[in-house]
Amino acid sequence: MSDKVYRASTTAPVNIAVVKYWGKRDAKLNLPTNSSLSVTLSQADLRTLTTASCSASFPASEGDSLLLNGEPSDISGARTQACLRELRTRRAALEAADSSLPKLSTYPLRLVSENNFPTAAGLASSAAGFAALVRAIANLYELPASPSELSLIARQGSGSACRSLFGGYVAWRMGDKADGTDSMADQVAEASHWPDMRALVLVVSAAKKGVSSSSGMQQTVATSGLFRERIATVVPENMAIMEKAIAEKDFEKFAEVTMRDSNSFHATCADTYPPIFYMNDVSRAAIRAVETINEKAGRTVAAYTFDAGPNAVIYYQEKDTEAVVGTFYHVLQGADVGGWKSAEIKGLKPTISLDE
Ligand code: ADP
Ligand code: DP6
Ligand code: CO
Repeated sequence: MSDKVYRASTTAPVNIAVVKYWGKRDAKLNLPTNSSLSVTLSQADLRTLTTASCSASFPASEGDSLLLNGEPSDISGARTQACLRELRTRRAALEAADSSLPKLSTYPLRLVSENNFPTAAGLASSAAGFAALVRAIANLYELPASPSELSLIARQGSGSACRSLFGGYVAWRMGDKADGTDSMADQVAEASHWPDMRALVLVVSAAKKGVSSSSGMQQTVATSGLFRERIATVVPENMAIMEKAIAEKDFEKFAEVTMRDSNSFHATCADTYPPIFYMNDVSRAAIRAVETINEKAGRTVAAYTFDAGPNAVIYYQEKDTEAVVGTFYHVLQGADVGGWKSAEIKGLKPTISLDE
């Protein structure tokens, strides 16, 4: 038995949706009730770093394992298992076709992952996390897989992860096949198409959310009447306007749809029974701050959006940095926004560019 340890590492970026995914039509295959669209943020700021290793010398009794941010993490869940199974099946096919290849598909996997930003706090850790997990193992197994194919696999781990395999502006097409083979992401535009775009991340709380995205959206699908309206008309309209706004680099439209869609998503959370509240008083203060900034500028220069957590992401254009970042800092002075990196000013992380 060889002691050789095979190893591959990769990083993956966070993406923050401007038209939100919220709702599953098939929880087992992780298929969404609606298409969604996001912006991939620079890995220089927020990223997951994952190393996958395997060896015939790893005891089979230990099985596969994941160390997440230094702590053992449960990977027995059906969604992580689906990712591992898909990747192993592809590796096994390569091994069957070429008997000189080591049988990596049969070795236990050790995964070590670290997020350099809060985990499970509404800053898309599951997106960066599963994108990195899938790509690290695909690299380890030397799979000839395209980003689209990896996107299809990552989707089964966490829906939003399918969008983190691409940079720039990314759509997740919901697809209509029952087996989910057409439900994956594609790039709508490269980051360089709109080089002025920036994101400001306001970390209101780094604490783990009370209701996970997975369980929150299932409760919404089961109980909210407003949600039916959202997926039937609101999201399809938002997707169409958003794709046009990005193609035309129309910030006013981009901003309006971003804010409306975030509001619509949080309204369906409030309409869930019992209701789910992801935003808090500081989140609402951030919304008011954006309104003040836009009023002062006399045009829309900033757009807020909130995922399933209280933390705000503000999209703006580089040319408006002073009006947005400067004013934001002043308006929110005194608000308890905490921070998660000492380099930040009160949790404000200015000027994150986009990832190609
Ligand atoms: P978030 O808003 O951060 O995406 P979610 O509730 O959607 O929060 O998902 C959080 C879960 O995603 C974590 O509890 C963990 O199971 C998984 N996750 C986060 N980071 C990673 C990672 N780096 N590798 C593997 N899984 C991860
Ligand atoms: C509000 O992708 O975390 O961030 O598929 O159950 O893992 P699972 O959910 P997840 O949900 C993300 C919800 C959102 C909106 C979005 O990213 O589109
Ligand atoms: Co998530």
